Amino acid sequence: MSDHASEQSGTTPAPGMVAVVGAGAMGSGIAQVAAQAGHEVVLVDARDGAAQEAVERLRSTLGRLADKGRIGADEAAAAGGRLGVAEDLRTLPSCRLVIEAVVEDLEVKREIFAALAARQDADTILASNTSSLSITAIAEGIAHPDRIIGLHFFNPPPLMRLVEVVRGARSGTDSVDDACELVRAWGKTPVRCASTPGFIVNRVARPFYGEAQRMVAEGIADAATIDAALRGAGFRMGPLELTDLIGQDVNLAVGTSVWEQTDHDARYEPTAYQQDLVARGALGRKTGHGVYRYDESDQAVDASPDEAAVERLVGGPVRTDPVARTLAMLVNEALAVVVRGEATAEDVDTAMRLGANYPRGPIEWGREIGFDVIKAQLEELAEIYPGGRYRPSKALSQDLPGVGASTGLRPPG
Ligand SMILES: NC(=O)c1ccc[n+]([C@@H]2O[C@H](COP(=O)([O-])OP(=O)(O)OC[C@H]3O[C@@H](n4cnc5c(N)ncnc54)[C@H](O)[C@@H]3O)[C@@H](O)[C@H]2O)c1
Repeated sequence: MSDHASEQSGTTPAPGMVAVVGAGAMGSGIAQVAAQAGHEVVLVDARDGAAQEAVERLRSTLGRLADKGRIGADEAAAAGGRLGVAEDLRTLPSCRLVIEAVVEDLEVKREIFAALAARQDADTILASNTSSLSITAIAEGIAHPDRIIGLHFFNPPPLMRLVEVVRGARSGTDSVDDACELVRAWGKTPVRCASTPGFIVNRVARPFYGEAQRMVAEGIADAATIDAALRGAGFRMGPLELTDLIGQDVNLAVGTSVWEQTDHDARYEPTAYQQDLVARGALGRKTGHGVYRYDESDQAVDASPDEAAVERLVGGPVRTDPVARTLAMLVNEALAVVVRGEATAEDVDTAMRLGANYPRGPIEWGREIGFDVIKAQLEELAEIYPGGRYRPSKALSQDLPGVGASTGLRPPG
């Protein structure tokens, strides 16, 4: 049986046709979410047969969800029936929304957006799921750039609630508003942010990894002890075990991209510790060793924390306190996003809770610790480690504790 979209044309099904370009991990997950939310969805992929394979995989995923009782059998069948494929961008039907989720390559994405812009209506939202490229750059030179935005889903899209709705320099407010409404109707939580390196989550999270790597390299404690300290503060996983799960190469690539796009800001400088892991092929769980070594049943070996050291370090001087040092940097990063006008304090906190699984939003956390305390801790660190990494954000130099505590921070303008 063919799944071609052309067979479905001629009708205007509510709530609007959605196309997904790129039927890989993210594209198929997004297609599943849209189909379950009631949209007709068309998948297209450059590799022959890939879109059709994705549709078949998604139908069996939906079937399995129904077998487990997570969704009704009717819902699974209906959502599966709403999935179709198109041969290429030229045969895509007219859509309410097109989401691009192909390889992370600016030139490839720009070609796709140019082709989409030439064929889709001027009010069709054209969205990129890019993690690291500038939405402004993707939209450059393309007709009606007001319809181009970022829709950054997290992996896996059916399970992760957060979607960063990213505005490039020329994105229209209507497109951003419509996209927020749409993803909310899909059961997701949208946060709005400007197109900046790493958007909210991938930027604010940098010091979570970086501080832990530095502390191990400085010999403050071993990895298991630092991970245990952070778990003790409420994080689901410690930073070092988390990078082993993500993949040291993937985590380093994201960090390096943010660093390069911020003119090599010392706040994001990759650590020699992680570069060395990657150079040695110690990429984490997928290679059987990373920060930790893993046995045949995928359990970390020699990963017992020194509980006495956790007790001794947490609450001690900030340089050697894994929790205080990490939180000071997270709060600093989160406030910097707000002060630069890139997102609201509320959206930054929501993004970190839902996108990075933090137990609380960093700004809320900072309010509780006290922004004056955070500032003093950063000043202490900046004296020990000059070079700009620990410079306190301007937000901490303004008289913000009262503002933050009572009304929340507001971006300027
Ligand atoms: N994997 C993640 O955790 C994650 C999370 C958020 C965002 N992203 C972003 O989502 C995008 C896709 O990532 P992924 O992990 O799904 O990649 P993937 O490699 O699983 O899938 C990419 C798909 O795009 C197809 N493709 C490549 N060039 C194409 C073209 N010119 N036209 C049509 N299809 C083309 C490939 O055949 C492949 O099926 C990237 O921009 C990535 O940065 C990834």
